[in-house]
Amino acid sequence: MSASRSAAACARTLARLCALALIVAAGLCSELRVRVRLSDGHLTEEVLEADSEKDFISLEFKQGDGTLITFMADFKQDVKIFRALILGELERGQNQYQALCFISRLNRNEIIPSESMARLRQKNPQAIRLAEERRGLEQLTVSVAVNLSRAWQLSPHIHNMCSEAQEAIYTREADVKYWLDKGVDGSVFEVLPQATELPSLQACHSTKDLWQPCVCTYSLRLEWYPCLLKYCRTRDATGKGSTYKCGIKSCSKGYYFTYYVPQKQLCLWNEET
Ligand SMILES: *[C@@H]1O[C@H](CO)[C@@H](O)[C@H](O)[C@H]1NC(C)=O
Repeated sequence: MSASRSAAACARTLARLCALALIVAAGLCSELRVRVRLSDGHLTEEVLEADSEKDFISLEFKQGDGTLITFMADFKQDVKIFRALILGELERGQNQYQALCFISRLNRNEIIPSESMARLRQKNPQAIRLAEERRGLEQLTVSVAVNLSRAWQLSPHIHNMCSEAQEAIYTREADVKYWLDKGVDGSVFEVLPQATELPSLQACHSTKDLWQPCVCTYSLRLEWYPCLLKYCRTRDATGKGSTYKCGIKSCSKGYYFTYYVPQKQLCLWNEET
């Protein structure tokens, strides 16, 4: 490679690294809008909000089919919340939209801290962002229902985000065990019938009767989110090295939820078309 070509490649790499920079001076709250191409080909504008005082990050975008996806990471409570507002089929007697909420524990290093997110700025807001790392599909069997009016015990954000999903707030058994051990009241949860207990319970896509209970699946993908901080090295005059946060790594990750519905009517996207 010639010197000029490698210099140009280096400049391009630098430009890419600097496109999303962590600025030092910033307020506590921030909103960042990034353009993202979804797996369905739809170009969307994703809104990322961070509040370092309340210590949360939220992310929201609209899919090509009109579904509004919202994700929230509540670092104070180590809880993550997924919400899908799915447009209903009015001609089939459904509501205007159907809300689903899935709640789970937030693990360390799933997403960057809210304080770093609040400092994130982009130079070129028009750029269409592509995640640097495409992660697989995480399977979550969410067999327990969460009572909306008691859910504040898990996170104060559930009430706002999931009020439209009253009868469709789900979580995993393993998460419930963890929360019960931490002292959360058992009345927050309601265990739902599961495939193992009810062998007659079929997958919704193979259930004919719209009023029969069945096992529903729902999948979504967070196509772009800041998953890790990048550190750069610097050397001072004496040659002593140190590192500092100099940017973010972006990831894409899919989630596949399996849960009980009392009527197939509530799971029409599982139909064979
Ligand atoms: C949820 O909790 C509320 C208030 O504590 C209670 O009145 C209601 O019956 C509960 N709902 C279910 C489905 O258990």
